[in-house]
Amino acid sequence: MNAERESLKISESVYRVGVIDWELRNFHGYETRRGTTYNAFLVKGAQGYILIDTVKNNFKDELMAHIRTVCDPREIKAIISNHAEPDHSGSIAHVLARISPEAKVYASAMGAKALAAHYGDAVKAEAVPAGATLDIAGRPFRFVETRMLHWPDSMWTLDVTDNVLFTNDAFGMHLAGLPCWHDAYDPAVIEEESSKYFANILMIYAQVVAKLIEVYPTLNIHPSIVCPDHGPLWRGGGIDHIIGRYAQWSNPANRKNKAVVVYDTMWHSTEKIAHAIAEGLNRGNAEVAVMPLRGTHRSDVARELLDAKALIVGSPTLNQGMMPTVADALTYIKGLKFPIDFGAAFGSYGWAPLGTKALQEYLAPMCRNVTNSISVQFVPTEENLAQCRDYGEKLAFAICSDCPEQRA
Ligand code: FEO
Repeated sequence: MNAERESLKISESVYRVGVIDWELRNFHGYETRRGTTYNAFLVKGAQGYILIDTVKNNFKDELMAHIRTVCDPREIKAIISNHAEPDHSGSIAHVLARISPEAKVYASAMGAKALAAHYGDAVKAEAVPAGATLDIAGRPFRFVETRMLHWPDSMWTLDVTDNVLFTNDAFGMHLAGLPCWHDAYDPAVIEEESSKYFANILMIYAQVVAKLIEVYPTLNIHPSIVCPDHGPLWRGGGIDHIIGRYAQWSNPANRKNKAVVVYDTMWHSTEKIAHAIAEGLNRGNAEVAVMPLRGTHRSDVARELLDAKALIVGSPTLNQGMMPTVADALTYIKGLKFPIDFGAAFGSYGWAPLGTKALQEYLAPMCRNVTNSISVQFVPTEENLAQCRDYGEKLAFAICSDCPEQRA
């Protein structure tokens, strides 16, 4: 990567010095098809530079090279750590050994503990009071506690002078690219990657997001630039846009009359049932996303569930249970705690329909309602498929009767 290209000046006194990870394809179970960035920022204060966050450990040398295009690292008088997860703190000890020996590290109270737990005596952070404004290296910074977005230590930092808000994971996305700003990218890509990020990283804490969005106007923060730690930076109308999307995604009332049909198949029988149920859902005016797990990643299923009310899961019976691909997807989705109103199970079987039984038991704690499953022995007949279409149509009626005017 070209270091000069990456160390961009984004405001009068703020520089982007992070790195691009073009190769990343898996972020602990989340498929990152477009790679990612680990953003870090240098802010010029009256008494020296302040580094906001660092990068994953294996990119530490690249980070230092980018810093050197802006200043002598020994001019860095402080590091503000907004989030201790190692993709943002992994090179902090390396950086600390190369900057001003008097440099201090600032983090939230939980962040100071998390940094100590990760790096021991190598990183001793000073806890900043939530909501406080502190002078650091001759420049005022305001701190906003954003606990559980998505770790207990998470916080935002506002550079008061240039009105730049650093939000760590919030408003981010896994999208590698040289352009700095969101408006340099195809809006469809921004929508896909930002919603996928929300579904896979923040959905589990959607209620916390909703509360933060609710109190956000009272914080009296009106940033000119919003800098997440992954993906492009937000400016202009993009700031209100992404805050609006977070308000929408965190509110279950905004889901569509939509069902996600997820399945794997052994000898194509469960696949035929899936298609018939999808046809019935469509006939009943529900929107349908059909997601065969051969070729669909669990993190894309999560993204489709972001605006869906129903999860319809299929598996043939295998070894008295469900197929491992289906168990994988369900385990992942369960952890994200989507507000699923309707669950249903389907599948083919040889001599006992134990796959659908296992699916139903798994779906029960995940969904507000789980309807009776539908199973077909061996290969579905035309009559069986007609029953599956009717089954899908009835599901659609249940989904749409909740709030018909929300039909997309
Ligand atoms: Fe990008 Fe929670 O780390």
